[in-house]
Amino acid sequence: MSYPIATVFPPLPAGGLPLSDLQKKVIALKKAKDAIILAHNYQCEDIQGIADYVGDSLGLAYKAAAAQNSTIVFCGVHFMAETAKIVNPTRRVLLPDMDAGCSLADSCPAEKLAAAKAANPELYVVAYINCSAAVKALSDVICTSGNASKIVNRVPADRPILFIPDQNLGRWVAAKTGRAMQLWPGNCYAHVQFTPAALLRTKAAHPQAPIVAHPECTEAVRDLADRVCSTELMVDWCRSQASDTIIVTTEAGMIHRLRREVPNKTFVAAPTDRCACNECKFMKMNTLQKVHDCLLNGQPEVTMPESIRLAAEAPLRRMLEWSA
Ligand code: 13P
Ligand code: SF4
Repeated sequence: MSYPIATVFPPLPAGGLPLSDLQKKVIALKKAKDAIILAHNYQCEDIQGIADYVGDSLGLAYKAAAAQNSTIVFCGVHFMAETAKIVNPTRRVLLPDMDAGCSLADSCPAEKLAAAKAANPELYVVAYINCSAAVKALSDVICTSGNASKIVNRVPADRPILFIPDQNLGRWVAAKTGRAMQLWPGNCYAHVQFTPAALLRTKAAHPQAPIVAHPECTEAVRDLADRVCSTELMVDWCRSQASDTIIVTTEAGMIHRLRREVPNKTFVAAPTDRCACNECKFMKMNTLQKVHDCLLNGQPEVTMPESIRLAAEAPLRRMLEWSA
């Protein structure tokens, strides 16, 4: 059986990539519409190239909260755009493709969480930010992969923790903090496709290259990594490495950010057993053309009932305060 060979990304040419005509049009439009464009690290190269800020879930939540423009174009998935609306409700929040969801968020419907809480009212719910506004509204505090240990360490010692919805991230945080936690049985469909065998084949082809992996990967994959961290922390870690080649075990869009901010290094996108380059189909629903069209038309707009927004804001604010 033959397996896909990992995709290798050499350093960008000096001076970076030239802007396309469509990118120039989007930049002009965002100025005309008083919009700020926030993009997750997993977005396409051409979207990252015109964004005002590219970052991880935590950085994006802070940027959304501080945004002064009348419109926030959120290039990411639905729960991220919802988060922007929750923390900055007077802004219009646009999501270029309203169908950009998340398998992890879908694994924890609000009704199921409400039932778990009703069965055990003592539970302290720590919710990974990858969940819906309705689920956030039922949670005690939110975390991201960048601050999860810090947040879990602040939870009152006498409360049993239910960590939702990512069991892989939860297991990683439990090991790091030594705090026992009940784990929701959810996962990211994209990150669990990385396998130890695929990573070992990649390492054999690039023996000098250290491996960085996202905590949404399975424990068996994380155990092979030299560093496990959020996408934001990957940037500094890659910069600090002596090796000129690094194996990146997360959604492949991350490599666009790394190539721009960590020049002169080669990045190898860890493959799965079936695919040379692992992409999240939801993140890739946003395209530069859709960014252009949503700016032009002022939709699709993310909205939610004010009662849900208010209830979801409290645990989000707690996170921003605890991780400052
Ligand atoms: P971070 O942005 O926290 O690194 O998480 C990655 C992710 O999977 C978001 O959906
Ligand atoms: Fe959700 Fe995974 Fe896609 Fe992130 S990469 S948006 S966790 S499905």
